[in-house]
Amino acid sequence: MTFSRILGIETSCDETSVAVLYDGAPMVSRTYSQVAHSAFGGVVPEVASREHLRTIDILAQEVLREAKVGIADMDLVAVTDGPGLAGALLVGVSFALGLDRSYGIRAAGVHHLEGHICAALLEHGDIPFPFLALVVSGGHTALYRVDDIGSYVCIAQTVDDAAGEAFDKVGKLLGFPYPAGRAIDEEAGRAKSAEGISFPIARSTGKELTFSFSGLKTAVKYYLEQADSQFVSEHRPAICRAFEEAVVGSLVRNTTEAASRYNLDTVVCTGGVAANGMLRTSLTSAFGGTAIFPSLAYCTDNAAMIARAAYERAHRGILCAPRMSPSKPL
Ligand code: KG4
Ligand code: ZN
Repeated sequence: MTFSRILGIETSCDETSVAVLYDGAPMVSRTYSQVAHSAFGGVVPEVASREHLRTIDILAQEVLREAKVGIADMDLVAVTDGPGLAGALLVGVSFALGLDRSYGIRAAGVHHLEGHICAALLEHGDIPFPFLALVVSGGHTALYRVDDIGSYVCIAQTVDDAAGEAFDKVGKLLGFPYPAGRAIDEEAGRAKSAEGISFPIARSTGKELTFSFSGLKTAVKYYLEQADSQFVSEHRPAICRAFEEAVVGSLVRNTTEAASRYNLDTVVCTGGVAANGMLRTSLTSAFGGTAIFPSLAYCTDNAAMIARAAYERAHRGILCAPRMSPSKPL
């Protein structure tokens, strides 16, 4: 059985996304970023589920129409089955299982982080294994040795907040709406330097490589509390830049250390925070042409990466039926 046409579905958090892949390449990929959470300063799980439910069917019809294919033309439907918000995952998984039951299109489950790693393959299909993957998103910050698709060794992970979470929490302190990563990125880009401002960040101690971002968030909070409000509003770009330098410094330091310890030349940087300009520039300076990033549209949550993961699995004969789990390890 060949799986030429794959319908991808992603609903693990606050993005509703549907894509059609033909032979591993996206024909159409559409993502609806739920705006309803902005008023609450973070994702509200119940609101996320309802928004997915309201959107998924309409979005799927739009994507199929744009790709000029019918649902019956699909060979496989690939859906994120974890980790993520339980109610949000349930909408995508139920939708995929419904297509399986009604149209006889086989449904396959995809791990969300495997999807992020496979985002890099959408435009760089020939990355040699093994490679190092830095997965940096709103929910995860970890380094994996990728021996093959389906075979991962976790080398380092965060002991508290994810990097994206730090961007969002610091953004809230600085008055940016949720999610704040992109706004901080843009604001930091307006500063020529951090103007002498610097924030401390935890380093790995001992042999184990770890990330930690909650202390950094607290350091920014204390800094803003003691600073003059006019100074803060006039120097917001420099403050954002100093915060970014701390986050990016930690990500690049651990990635470089992991690459050297495990003798890995190629680094794939993926997840929402991989859209960050300073991170892309710094990893490229550290690794040159062997630092690989998905294009911006495929860094944040999207269904094309989920469909691509299923495509890779299909080729290896390791497709699995969806087994929804809000907290499954990779
Ligand atoms: O991968 P993603 O869409 O969702 C999760 O799986 O969590 O990542 C979303 C995260 C948010 O925290 C958002 O603020 C962050 O990615 N983000 C960025 C940038 N664009 C999105 N962080 C830093 N710089 C960016 N340009
Ligand atoms: Zn994600």
